[in-house]
Amino acid sequence: MPWHWCNASSTRLENQSTLDLKDLLGALCRQITEGMGAENVSIEVDVPSRVVTGSIAVAIALFTVEVLTSIFKHAFPGQRHGVIRVTMTETGDGKLRLGIADDGSGFEEGQATKSVGSRLIKIFGLQLGGVAQVRSVAGEGAVVELIFPDPALSPPVAASV
Ligand SMILES: Nc1ncnc2c1ncn2[C@@H]1O[C@H](COP(=O)(O)OP(=O)(O)O)[C@@H](O)[C@H]1O
Ligand SMILES: [Mg+2]
Repeated sequence: MPWHWCNASSTRLENQSTLDLKDLLGALCRQITEGMGAENVSIEVDVPSRVVTGSIAVAIALFTVEVLTSIFKHAFPGQRHGVIRVTMTETGDGKLRLGIADDGSGFEEGQATKSVGSRLIKIFGLQLGGVAQVRSVAGEGAVVELIFPDPALSPPVAASV
């Protein structure tokens, strides 16, 4: 096989196993919101371009699915109107902060700390080498925050020789 074919196919493989968080989170949030059919709730996604490995993308996708599912299930009872904001920002010290905020019913923080959802959220944070936390005040919505090392600044994986 000519060398440039090998090169082209390894580039294709590499492209398949990496994902841009801007595309991933944009598509995921749109699909879940459409799938829920909740016309009372809108979602805003503001995520910069960041190409990450498949395993980072999977942990971030599962985190986002868990948080959004809980929001649609609990935050806006009785067709209450609301907005979900998904943002990713650089913290300035080499980390990224993914925040998912809703302006819904909120809950007493103590009530959720042992639940499956909040344990999963913590585990996804650990998988990414970071931390995840939930903040909420009853009646004032909730914010779930994931802070993890910016993959763009991680040392490149050693090339195989
Ligand atoms: N965004 C939210 N708004 C209001 N309540 C929430 C929200 N997220 C979680 N909760 C509360 O925390 C509890 C635990 O959440 P979770 O572990 O994800 O369980 P569930 O399977 O019920 O979503 C929920 O039952 C609900 O009372
Ligand atoms: Mg949940």
